Amino acid sequence: YVIGIDLGTSAVKALLVGQDGTIKAEASREYPLLQERSGHSEQRPEDWVRGTIQAIQDVVRSSGAPAESIEGISFSGQMHGLVLLDAARRPVRNAILWNDTRTTKQCREIEAALGAELLDITRNPALEGFTLPKLLWVKENEPELYALGEVFVLPKDYVRYRLTGDIAMDLSDAAGTLLLDVRALGWSDEVARRVGVDRSLCPPLVESGALVGTLLPEIAAEAGLSPKTMVFAGGADNACGATGAGILGEDAAMCSIGTSGVILAYENDKNRDFAGKVHFFNHAAPDAYYAMGVTLSAGHSLGWFRDTFAAGVSFGELLAGVGDVPVGSKGLLYTPYLVGERTPHADAVIRGSFVGMDASHSRTDFARAVMEGITFSLNESIELFRAAGKSVGRIVSIGGGAKNPDWLQMQADVFRAEVVTMKNEQGPGMGAAMLAAVGCGWFGSLADCAKTFLEYGAAYEPKAADVEKYAQLFQVYKDVYAQTRELN
Ligand code: XUL
Repeated sequence: YVIGIDLGTSAVKALLVGQDGTIKAEASREYPLLQERSGHSEQRPEDWVRGTIQAIQDVVRSSGAPAESIEGISFSGQMHGLVLLDAARRPVRNAILWNDTRTTKQCREIEAALGAELLDITRNPALEGFTLPKLLWVKENEPELYALGEVFVLPKDYVRYRLTGDIAMDLSDAAGTLLLDVRALGWSDEVARRVGVDRSLCPPLVESGALVGTLLPEIAAEAGLSPKTMVFAGGADNACGATGAGILGEDAAMCSIGTSGVILAYENDKNRDFAGKVHFFNHAAPDAYYAMGVTLSAGHSLGWFRDTFAAGVSFGELLAGVGDVPVGSKGLLYTPYLVGERTPHADAVIRGSFVGMDASHSRTDFARAVMEGITFSLNESIELFRAAGKSVGRIVSIGGGAKNPDWLQMQADVFRAEVVTMKNEQGPGMGAAMLAAVGCGWFGSLADCAKTFLEYGAAYEPKAADVEKYAQLFQVYKDVYAQTRELN
């Protein structure tokens, strides 16, 4: 067996997976999010470590698998969170997470220090969520804590360090720090020097599939594992989510609709120019990359609509009948900017809208309009991929958006691509398990492993007549952004 750990923002999940890819046991442990001031979002690294060990104990116990049969373990982690460690490798403060937005000033400073070179080196713009602005925030606001810092790591790297005693960061997660030269696969001395961060704070870099070490004897005993269990570096949650959906070759793309929505495409060409409009990160597979666009309020839009206008109604009830509402929701259009938007606008101020309301519109018409608006927003990311020369012909759909057949057909029609579901969707934890499975030598590559581990379900083909209707509506949708910008 192998164990895939998914260290998320609300909980850590452990999956115990057999050599044929079947899930033998799963367990999770929640931990709190500390949001004590507006824009602040922190977690206690110790909570991750305890939760991870307990989730491992649970899967080992409930599966009854003998300790020696569990050969390897690897990780998927929430990206970008800063864990600054002192000389004794203790966190000097709580971790500052990816969804913490206190660093706008530091983002402007990074831009001023590096100009166009920032995009050239890191392939990404300075966003509040990334790690480097957080490091600068600590330097400026808590200089005494910054001075204690000897090395920084990301959330899953800290947990791995506590399990093995070895400090390392993998490339797919390092790409989200804004300190990595994404093409040269090394830390950027230039970025560190120009923003005034000591380069020695950066940990050793490894590939996601690298063997980092084995379990410390006391951890192995506590978790119920053998101290010989091999520990592999692991990757960023988006890289592992893509791996767990089989996005491992050119032309493969993924649509993941959870609270936020992600459109992600595999990329071989490290020089493809997206002009910084989408994220561009190293993949968990060697020599591979992915481009990614984010709709901030995807599932969140539907949840908001239900809670505000149909409290107590289940999603099943809310969406019953949306397939009978014609394309275009009888002239009703929704833009999903409830908390601003990331791709393509990178606009924290814009807010959402319903346009074209008629006295005859029903709740079901509104629900369909919300689904269409979310899908149009995701299509803006696909449009950016295509504009940069990528072909997007087949999209694996996962998350809440893959549970409703009407929505899946809508995705195929709006995205103008075949949309495929998964039979055994397990999210990023499966990607982590696949890294361990390849590391243990069960398979020659992640793509090989995917052939055994992953199984696809129903496929949805675009319907020509509806493709045409959506294409016209999409043009109107795009205009609404500029028109409603003035409202703020
Ligand atoms: C990616 C991002 C999120 C986190 C969530 O840039 O900020 O997807 O990785 O864990």
